[in-house]
Amino acid sequence: MKKLFILLALIVFSSIVIAGQGPEVIDLSKKFNVPKTTKKVVKFPHWFHQTKNQCTECHLDANGGKLKNIKKGGEFNPGVVKGTGNKVHKEFCWPCHKAKKVPRGKSCNKCHK
Ligand code: HEC
Ligand code: HEC
Ligand code: HEC
Repeated sequence: MKKLFILLALIVFSSIVIAGQGPEVIDLSKKFNVPKTTKKVVKFPHWFHQTKNQCTECHLDANGGKLKNIKKGGEFNPGVVKGTGNKVHKEFCWPCHKAKKVPRGKSCNKCHK
């Protein structure tokens, strides 16, 4: 009985460990080296997105790594992230939120909070 309990506990524990891949939440102002932030920095809910999307919708490879340019295809390169016309909005986050009709998907305080 005790052994069975330990076995079950191990199964539950390991399924928690594989619940998400890569970091759970990512500070994208750091990741994309935003030179100067005028809005609240975006803490991207990475694991949450994994429950709603396939890895390859955002990454070139199913294991993660390089990001995909969702608007133009190929590799995403954010360049210098400045102003509302930045590439992170236009070529990565917004095209998918628009396509998937995410509620308030382009509202500033949905992401900058
Ligand atoms: C779907 C998510 C999302 C939405 C919606 C969004 N942004 Fe952003 N924005 C980002 C990300 C990600 C960055 C880059 C990381 C960071 O700056 O924290 C960024 C960067 C910026 C930057 C450049 C960095 C800075 O702080 O100056 C500005 C300006 C900006 N956003 C303004 C806006 C405005 C205005 C709106 C509403 C019209 C908006 N954003 C809506 C995700 C979003
Ligand atoms: C909605 C978009 C999105 C989805 C879906 C997504 N990721 Fe990510 N992922 C990102 C972003 C944005 C980053 C941060 C940018 C970066 O690290 O280059 C990231 C970072 C990562 C990293 C860290 C890379 C590093 O160098 O630190 C790994 C690993 C990763 N993702 C794996 C995955 C896997 C595996 C899946 C599917 C189970 C997945 N991601 C699904 C957007 C996504
Ligand atoms: C490949 C598609 C895709 C991309 C790319 C994407 N998102 Fe999303 N995002 C979604 C979906 C789908 C939802 C969930 C809609 C729902 O069911 O409520 C969502 C929801 C969110 C939410 C709300 C989370 C919550 O707790 O309700 C935030 C914040 C968000 N996204 C930020 C971002 C930021 C920042 C980026 C760019 C770095 C981004 N997303 C890129 C598909 C995407």
